[in-house]
Amino acid sequence: MSDEQRLPPGIGRTRQFEVYVSGVRGVYPRVPVSYEHLEHSARGAMSAEAFAYVAGGAGREETMSSNRAAFERRRIVPRMLRDVSRRDTSIELFGARLPSPLLLCPIGVLDLAHRDADVAVARAAATEGVPMVFSNQASRPMEECAAAMGDAPHWFQLYWSTSNELVESLVSRAERCGCSAIVLTLDTTMLGWRVRDLDLASLPFLRGRGLAQYTSDPTFTAAVRATLDEDLPPTGRVTLAALGALWELAGAYPGPRLGNLRSKETRAAVRRFVETYSRPSLSWDDLAFLRERTRLPIVLKGILHPADAVAAIEHGMDGIVVSNHGGRQVDGSVATMDALPGIVEVVAGRIPVLLDSGVRSGADVFRALALGATAVGLGRPYVWGLAAGGEEGVREVVRNVWAEFDLTMGLAGCRSIEEIDGDTLERAG
Ligand SMILES: Cc1cc2nc3c(=O)[nH]c(=O)nc-3n(C[C@H](O)[C@H](O)[C@H](O)COP(=O)(O)O)c2cc1C
Repeated sequence: MSDEQRLPPGIGRTRQFEVYVSGVRGVYPRVPVSYEHLEHSARGAMSAEAFAYVAGGAGREETMSSNRAAFERRRIVPRMLRDVSRRDTSIELFGARLPSPLLLCPIGVLDLAHRDADVAVARAAATEGVPMVFSNQASRPMEECAAAMGDAPHWFQLYWSTSNELVESLVSRAERCGCSAIVLTLDTTMLGWRVRDLDLASLPFLRGRGLAQYTSDPTFTAAVRATLDEDLPPTGRVTLAALGALWELAGAYPGPRLGNLRSKETRAAVRRFVETYSRPSLSWDDLAFLRERTRLPIVLKGILHPADAVAAIEHGMDGIVVSNHGGRQVDGSVATMDALPGIVEVVAGRIPVLLDSGVRSGADVFRALALGATAVGLGRPYVWGLAAGGEEGVREVVRNVWAEFDLTMGLAGCRSIEEIDGDTLERAG
């Protein structure tokens, strides 16, 4: 065997051959490799409301299109004859070496996609060594997901509610279950104007979905129990739909469904959530509260303006995510790939700059890194993988994006992440 043949093939070639060799036996990929087919396949496995919640964006969904257009405007300029037989896709982030520059974005209400929800994603992420960011709006408590991940890297995403006690409690739970960073999402102090959900008059949280971090939290549940003597607002006319919602709520709440149907606690918990989850008054000065309460790196998610990136550094933050929440918050917002260069310039390497929103392929990962991102968050694609194929579906989506990234890197003439720089990209139009 020649030296050349002994070289590890890398994830790209390994994955390709896995697929092609299986094809010889008549076995096809569990979930489609192409993004469009993947989304289509997931749609078939989801209710209309669930699909709308995941697929939808704010307003006319222009931000979602802009996110894609901004990727498509950047063209990779491959270089030749550079011996790319060995490629290293690993990065260093907050003192940890990660096998790829990928993270799984925090995504709420994953049980809309699959009953194993966050736990299936956690297992898949752990197998691939890709950090999972547990959502504040998860369908399963962070402790359950952390247990499924063992030593594999996981982070916690926080929404700052009106209750600082709850914020403290969530952060200390995240520390106890081995999270290695806190991601504070800034762009959702109120829900965006999501027309698909509005047309279906559907918000999962009102049916008790996506509240697992709350209903498993001692501070939250104590506050709910303290309100049980108060009268709940009248439910209005009892319709079949209302009974269905109550049934769903009782099923989503911890404990036996029949007991939950009789208990006031389930409805009181939803009311408490609605009253407290959003904090539009949040401002830069509040960050000191969080900074004092955790030694974990704090990453601000939702930064789109260079001045906010500078402010993040000035307030002692450890990283930022350039994100527009996948176009779900402000319609007509700047695309993340358009915001990235200006932010990278002012940050000047002082803290990691991550990017999400619109990443659909390995070529997109390459383009974001070429513009200066340290790592990239994968969002909707892994939710489609979950809907279409559960844990294995998520694994395949992650492996496919990573494989394409590895091949793109090599075919563009880069052997390591450091070699992916501005020279490898040109702007079309
Ligand atoms: C269904 C859905 C739920 C989401 N839930 C959360 C969440 O709970 N917390 C959060 O910080 N971001 C949340 N996000 C935003 C993602 O973390 C990420 O920014 C976004 O999905 C990136 O856009 P893309 O999926 O189009 O690539 C959610 C996104 C989707 C699609």
